[in-house]
Amino acid sequence: MTAEKSLYQALSDYAASDFYPYHMPGHKRNPAGGEMADYHRIDISEIDGFDNLHQAEGILKEAQFRANRLYGADETFFLINGSTAGVLAAVMTAVRPFDEILIARNCHKSVYHAAILNGLIVRYYYPRMIPEYDICDGASAEELSVLLDTYPEVKAVVVTSPTYEGVLSDIPGIAAAVHKRGGILIVDEAHGAHFGLSPHLPQGAIAGGADLVIHSLHKTLPAMTQTALLHVNGDRVDRDRLHRYLSMLQSSSPSYVLMASMDSCVKFLKEQGQERFAAMRGHYESFCERTAALKHIRIGKMTNLLSKKHELKGWDIGKILISVKGTGMTGKELSGILREAYHLEMEMEAQTYVLAIMTLMDEAVGWQRLADALCEIDDRIEKGACGDSAVSEKKAAERGASALLFRPLKSGMAPARAFHSEWENIPLQKAEGRIAAGFVNLYPPGSPLVAPGEIFDEAVVKQIEGYLKTGLTVQGISGEGEVAAVTL
Ligand SMILES: Cc1ncc(COP(=O)(O)O)c(C=O)c1O
Repeated sequence: MTAEKSLYQALSDYAASDFYPYHMPGHKRNPAGGEMADYHRIDISEIDGFDNLHQAEGILKEAQFRANRLYGADETFFLINGSTAGVLAAVMTAVRPFDEILIARNCHKSVYHAAILNGLIVRYYYPRMIPEYDICDGASAEELSVLLDTYPEVKAVVVTSPTYEGVLSDIPGIAAAVHKRGGILIVDEAHGAHFGLSPHLPQGAIAGGADLVIHSLHKTLPAMTQTALLHVNGDRVDRDRLHRYLSMLQSSSPSYVLMASMDSCVKFLKEQGQERFAAMRGHYESFCERTAALKHIRIGKMTNLLSKKHELKGWDIGKILISVKGTGMTGKELSGILREAYHLEMEMEAQTYVLAIMTLMDEAVGWQRLADALCEIDDRIEKGACGDSAVSEKKAAERGASALLFRPLKSGMAPARAFHSEWENIPLQKAEGRIAAGFVNLYPPGSPLVAPGEIFDEAVVKQIEGYLKTGLTVQGISGEGEVAAVTL
């Protein structure tokens, strides 16, 4: 093995040498190549000395090992096609084509895509809602156990923890339930790549006993878009199969810029992580103190829910859920005010809340600006200058509005069969009783309200119409308001 040198350093040294690139990529590291030219310097292909992600034996093996040591899994792989590639590879490794899988209904669409690609029989677990905030609760180990007993052929379980909104599930409890029945647990921890890295943060799914864990570095850590990690634990997962799927599902030209970004992120976390996560905790607490006086807008917090019976086992301090439930304002309206009047761009807007993502890279000013803006808007609501709690119920009813609720729908055929069937576009209003040939989902977060093979019912049609009236982004509906249905 070569002497330990960071990937970034090696690339920089190479860029500074007089080697001339007679190989891809076409920009040839020429600084005249436009705005991205600085990255062109270090954007190479698998030339001598730089290893190959699909058969890592040198500098990339070392870089992956550094990531692995940081997280403490048995083995860690770089993903350059985002968590999407990790989820696909994990599912395809854990089950064989046409097997049965149990997935939480609020999973990301990549889990559904894996099921379609492998023709899987899909059983759903519907997480409960946390009505105070109109979001999904954590997954319940007890309820999953009941489903596993009902469907003894299930080979693997997929849960998303934390959820997009930051709610954690009881991973140790779920892992025990799945393993007791001989299954494999995959945790999509795309939004929790920072977990387990500081005493100020929750424990992650690797320590919780999951077999396969997927992390989007780019979501909550300082790494470039598309960077992600796949971790494996224990001996339930066939590593050879995993290697085969990773090399099938990832680009045959993995970006060295992205891989260097992952390695730099790991280095940064080792050097500055503890200090920055401690500072983040401090900023979060100041933010909570500052927003404690809000009278109408509410900040989603674990402590607000402690007295109630919920499954959530923690709430990520990096996910600031700003609830406008009962204020007469929608999440979209609040998000618009924050954007237009305060120049604050939110991660997501839903019917009754907006979501802000905060990370270790946010300085005090970022937290402060959000708290100040919310206090001012809350004051305007109090003075009747915006929002109107008296009309909120009426408004909601008029819009047919409801929370991001995953309703169980009857299955008309297996997801893969519906996806590959002949299909036609039909008006949403006429979809009741028809079998979906595609997905319908709010974006973000991208978890399907309707999945291929499911039968549209009256309630889901109304729900989708409500979202459209509110102006939320619904994917799977054409500009003409049509959805894909299996041809009769
Ligand atoms: C829960 C969850 N899993 C997986 C993904 C896919 O991640 P990526 O964008 O890194 O491919 C997303 C993306 O938003 C997500 O929210």
